Amino acid sequence: MNLGVNIDHIGVLREARKINDPDPLMALAICAQSGADQITIHLREDRRHIHDDDAYRIITTSPIPVNLECAIEPSIIEIVCALRPHRATLVPEKRQEVTTEGGLDVIGHHNFILDAIKQLKQHEIEISLFIDPTREAIEASERLGAEWVELHTGTYANLYAMRYSALPHSHHSIEALNLSRNELDNLLENAYGTIVDAANYARSLGLKVAAGHGLNYQNVTPIVSIDTIEELNIGQSIVARSVFTGLATAVSDMKALCQR
Ligand code: PXP
Repeated sequence: MNLGVNIDHIGVLREARKINDPDPLMALAICAQSGADQITIHLREDRRHIHDDDAYRIITTSPIPVNLECAIEPSIIEIVCALRPHRATLVPEKRQEVTTEGGLDVIGHHNFILDAIKQLKQHEIEISLFIDPTREAIEASERLGAEWVELHTGTYANLYAMRYSALPHSHHSIEALNLSRNELDNLLENAYGTIVDAANYARSLGLKVAAGHGLNYQNVTPIVSIDTIEELNIGQSIVARSVFTGLATAVSDMKALCQR
């Protein structure tokens, strides 16, 4: 299982002061030395963490492949084409959201996505679509010509936290109050089964399969055991742990959990 490390949160920390420290480029070097197989950054329209200049410096110097997440917004797609990362992952983006909340609407936004894919492919950029783990979304992604799908694991991660986390987990524990442990177990099992099913189906159609969102040191092991998934993209939990352990240890600990 390959590990892609999302370093957006290094940029979040820098932007808290709007200075030049910590530098995401330095995080790239440490991640690459500590077992990361790929580095992910998200160039958001509001540039809330990663800036164009970060993306340029990271893409032009990275010793490992760079996966650039972006919205299907013409001005952003143009920048991505000029930057030429190894891979572009198209994601839905809303300005007010705290993080990417759901998968791309690959059916409703078919034509916009197709235009973006055609443009990116002219620049030899590999395409991944961040989707909910459904058969319809996988079929649409395959028809659109994506090489990869990245399955959104947020529902699984939220249910896992409700079921097992000893820490209060924002609004999720409040929602959980209305559920019995049995109901929660069933929901979690279903969410996990949906990911297994989606990964197997995508692989059977010849797509490469990644997964991510909300994965952490507690909930990652069952996902690692799905052998049709070849890469996990993990950000928040690694950067959060790095505050206490340092980034090198946080990455190598996660990499160890990714060994099958
Ligand atoms: N994959 C995609 C497409 C994402 O948008 C994100 C969040 O930026 C991640 C993976 C990583 O999620 P997390 O930060 O919750 O690990």
